[in-house]
Amino acid sequence: MTRKVTKAIFPVAGLGTRFLPATKSIPKEILCLVDRPLIQYAIDEAREAGIEEYIFVTSRGKGALEDYFDGAPQLERALEEKGKLDLLKVLNHSTMGSGEIAYVRQRDALGLGHAVLCADRLVGNEPFAVILTDDVIDAEKPCLKQMMDAHEETGGNIVAAMEVPPSKASAYGLLDVKDNIGPLVSVKGMVEKPKPEDAPSNLAVIGRYILTPGVMNNLRTQAPGAGGEIQLTDAIAKEIKKSDNVYGLRFDGQRYDCGSKAGFLQATVAFGLARGDLRDEFLEYLIEMLETQKAAQ
Ligand code: G1P
Repeated sequence: MTRKVTKAIFPVAGLGTRFLPATKSIPKEILCLVDRPLIQYAIDEAREAGIEEYIFVTSRGKGALEDYFDGAPQLERALEEKGKLDLLKVLNHSTMGSGEIAYVRQRDALGLGHAVLCADRLVGNEPFAVILTDDVIDAEKPCLKQMMDAHEETGGNIVAAMEVPPSKASAYGLLDVKDNIGPLVSVKGMVEKPKPEDAPSNLAVIGRYILTPGVMNNLRTQAPGAGGEIQLTDAIAKEIKKSDNVYGLRFDGQRYDCGSKAGFLQATVAFGLARGDLRDEFLEYLIEMLETQKAAQ
């Protein structure tokens, strides 16, 4: 029996420079797809996967994130008085219970591995999940839940995996596959952002992880890697050598890279079209827009 995973780490300390000037005063995790901040998608996915404790690794200037998950008594009262119960429900959805959420600061931006290590004491000696909010995954069964189900069978470490165009592979952590076991792959090597000639495959790590205490332990002594940063990929790769228990899951679902402007726009269109209350008007506009663009070419 594998131990149930109930804690998830959300590394949200990044500066979000790709979205300046918006991120000058708001954390990028608060940027919205239609009307829900990126962080809400991540939290909802975690909750549906059975996560009960949410650990945010933050930095200076991320105060708006803490407020977002707090109760908003004045606003709640106003909505109640006006009988806007549907909006009240939406609002309640974003409020976290007392003690469900914890914040820890990453003082220096030393990399993703270092951010995860900042949560070491809060996680303790148990398996944990990591969710990168930049990667928004639209799936019938949430990606982390797919991974949890696989984890019940395999135990060990599981990363979400997806084939990316070879020309873009160097922007990711890449897997060296040992065996294909259906959508699951066992992994014999992992490398963070290699040069194209050193890429073991174009099967990329996407920002969902279920990790063992062994990885946390490796992070304690992990030397800087790609980009001079302490890389989570490197600490996971060490576990392959030590325990041979690293898997990738080719998840079902559509992933959007909301850390890039193009990906964010694509996600906005997709999530907008998926909304019953917006679809008709939005689609009509998009078709018109496309026709105008085509005619102008
Ligand atoms: C991080 C990880 C990388 C992974 C990627 C997925 O990189 O370090 O291994 O492939 O997320 O989005 P980042 O995009 O933060 O540079």
